[in-house]
Amino acid sequence: MATNDFQPVYGMTDIGPPEVYTWQQVEEQARKVLNKYGFDEVRTPIVERNEVFVRSLGDTTDIVQKEMFTFVDRGDRQLTLRPEGTAGVIRYVASCGQDALNGRFYYVGPMFRAERPQAGRRRQFHQFGVEMIGAALPALDAECIALQAHLLSEWGLSKFTVNINTRGLPEDIAKVGEGLRKMLSPHRGQLCADCQRRFEQNILRVLDCKEAGCQEMIKDLPPMTDFMADDSKRYFAEVLRFLELLKVDVKLNPRLVRGLDYYVHTVFEITHGGLGSQDALSGGGRYQISFGDRTIPGVGFAIGLERVIVALQSEQTQKWEQSHGVPLWFISLGTKAFEENLKLAMIWRRKGLPCALDMEGRSLKAQMRAASGRGAKWVVIRGDREIEQGLFQLKDLQTGVQEELDLPALLSKLAAAQIHNFGAPLM
Ligand code: HAM
Repeated sequence: MATNDFQPVYGMTDIGPPEVYTWQQVEEQARKVLNKYGFDEVRTPIVERNEVFVRSLGDTTDIVQKEMFTFVDRGDRQLTLRPEGTAGVIRYVASCGQDALNGRFYYVGPMFRAERPQAGRRRQFHQFGVEMIGAALPALDAECIALQAHLLSEWGLSKFTVNINTRGLPEDIAKVGEGLRKMLSPHRGQLCADCQRRFEQNILRVLDCKEAGCQEMIKDLPPMTDFMADDSKRYFAEVLRFLELLKVDVKLNPRLVRGLDYYVHTVFEITHGGLGSQDALSGGGRYQISFGDRTIPGVGFAIGLERVIVALQSEQTQKWEQSHGVPLWFISLGTKAFEENLKLAMIWRRKGLPCALDMEGRSLKAQMRAASGRGAKWVVIRGDREIEQGLFQLKDLQTGVQEELDLPALLSKLAAAQIHNFGAPLM
């Protein structure tokens, strides 16, 4: 087998120990926080009909035009690996009864975008996302942003900035587009190739183009709100007022537009100083998505979990557990002892004590090596004599002290060492 045969697909990554333990803790903490806000988890399929994304994200967006993994299945249907979570959740909400129209949902899982892989950008990545379904209310948008800041600080992150802007309503977006087109048309030839295309199809995206030439051209443009109706400006002012009330620091960024067409009113992006060039930790905003004759309004965000892990490493504020390990190993000398240890390990695990044993009948030395390799603090050694006499050799691997104990003495020793208090009778 060539070395490449062992590699995952280009732009996709295995997540194993010890890093996977950080992932588990990050996800667990996120669930705890979301429970405090009364959210339900939702698990939608990874594969959706292609039009679920085309219609919600917009057919001129970068994701739909160049980044989706789309394929034809055996029944000639066009299917897509989800590039983001919002469209699937809203399809699910549209399929439910009235109750879901005030639902608060979160999700966690892999997303897929055929982007050019680089640091912080993968073709399979993971999002922790939140969708708060409900009509446009400034307090809801502010709560959504405050919740996000709460979640990040619960993870131990502090070096982040909440960038915020408004796109107004679809009518405003059309007016902003018209105004921008007028102002930029004399300089159109100087825009980058992507922005030449965006000029016709999605002019707002020119505003957040990172190319130096385009930056030069857009730096003196008026803020988008200049083109908007008073109601939309008032809505945004209310969002900002609620954020002040909730003591969430935000930075107004009049160039922030976000790359998805479903957004209306409030949009935001959280950046983090430890992330390098792909510095967006999360993004979101208020949206309106239509399925059939139903238009579902909501506000939400998605946090890139790969980027959270990098941000945590850069801040190093919290020591994340690197392995669950097992505190106790059984060492078996002979077949009889092995069978008895195998039975006892099953019983003890059911009672809540994590423990393990060697299955291969290896030498005492090899079993001891395996035990300390997996982080065990104690080993219980048994051979034919111990089985016959109901005894246990308990060795403390930190001190090297070994004692011969009967079962009650062993259990009280384990309880005293706070490894486990069985409480209930053992057998
Ligand atoms: P998004 O800005 O496209 O928004 O993605 C959210 C986050 O996912 C980004 O800030 C980033 O952390 C992470 N991310 C995106 N692409 C990649 C990639 N190729 N590699 C690694 N991480 C990546 C959305 O997906 C919207 N659905 C968010 C939302 C929810 N809006 C409303 N509700």
